[in-house]
Amino acid sequence: MWQNEYVSTITPIRNACAARFECGRNPVRLFVIVSMQRSGSGWFETLMNSHVNLSSNGEIFGQKDRRKNVSMIINTLDRVYNMDLLTRSSKNECSAAIGLKWMLNQGLMDYPEEILDYFTKRGVYVIFFLRRNMLRRLVSILANSFDKEAKLLNGVHVSHVHSHEEPTINVSSLESDLGKMELMARKALEYYNRTRHIVVYYEDLMKNPYKLIQVQDFLKLPRMELKSRQVKIHKGPLWEHIDNWDDVNKTLSGTTYERYLRADY
Ligand SMILES: *[C@@H]1O[C@H](CO)[C@@H](O)[C@H](O)[C@H]1NC(C)=O
Ligand SMILES: *[C@@H]1O[C@H](CO)[C@@H](O)[C@H](O)[C@H]1NC(C)=O
Ligand SMILES: *[C@@H]1O[C@H](CO)[C@@H](O)[C@H](O)[C@H]1NC(C)=O
Ligand SMILES: *[C@@H]1O[C@H](CO)[C@@H](O)[C@H](O)[C@H]1NC(C)=O
Ligand SMILES: *[C@@H]1O[C@H](CO)[C@@H](O)[C@H](O)[C@H]1NC(C)=O
Repeated sequence: MWQNEYVSTITPIRNACAARFECGRNPVRLFVIVSMQRSGSGWFETLMNSHVNLSSNGEIFGQKDRRKNVSMIINTLDRVYNMDLLTRSSKNECSAAIGLKWMLNQGLMDYPEEILDYFTKRGVYVIFFLRRNMLRRLVSILANSFDKEAKLLNGVHVSHVHSHEEPTINVSSLESDLGKMELMARKALEYYNRTRHIVVYYEDLMKNPYKLIQVQDFLKLPRMELKSRQVKIHKGPLWEHIDNWDDVNKTLSGTTYERYLRADY
């Protein structure tokens, strides 16, 4: 009796979404990939999206009007998680996990209480995708200086930087720039550390593809081999990617950021 009642109330809702008919009984996990620009999260998201049961809808909050205030943010999250906001990545039919990629500078750090509350209420699985080496991240930002963040960090003039030119780093602000980047990542982990979460570092994933299995297990997805045709970012020794390497090396030697000078992979 109880079971029939349960099914009869649930079924119409599930069937309302015709596309989900066949897989309608499978539970759907809601997730968010929390990241920062130039951390390899594009590559990571395409890997995740190669899973037949997962749909990650990209940088939904890249559009400013979706994060004007906290009610717009909650409304946008509802639309993604209720599958009302379909993007190119939406698979829909048999999605067992639905989510988006959310950069720290896209409103996520502006309303931590309300967003934490939302994540908790809806049981959102949080995947922090971060880069360990913030110096490499900075170089990547500067090398792609069309990115507006480059102007805010390191005081660089954005005009006419060719994409293959190695950036010159402003060493007078280097330590404080790296400090700010680290602080932001640390704060995000602190704000959202009470959610159900996993932390994945870009460098670890490069070295150990087993990380992808851990993420699939975290989302309780059937394990699959995941693939991406997207090119990985910035390979090779760091000194090849910085125009004024000697200055940078000298500036960071003996500081807490010295570890960033060493090549990770
Ligand atoms: C949030 O922004 C939307 C769109 O501009 C507006 O309609 C709404 O009243 C705002 N809500 C709050 C609580 O400020
Ligand atoms: C995953 O997708 C496949 C193919 O669409 C489907 O047959 C299967 O039931 C789905 N599994 C889950 C756990 O949703
Ligand atoms: C380098 O950074 C310092 C300190 O933030 C700033 O005063 C200076 O203008 C910057 N130099 C350039 C070339 O952007
Ligand atoms: C979570 O953050 C709080 C401070 O905001 C801190 O006291 C606590 O140790 C953190 N817990 C974990 C598991 O990181
Ligand atoms: C960086 O500077 C140190 C001396 O402070 C030097 O020993 C080392 O070879 C330099 N590293 C590179 C890669 O140039």
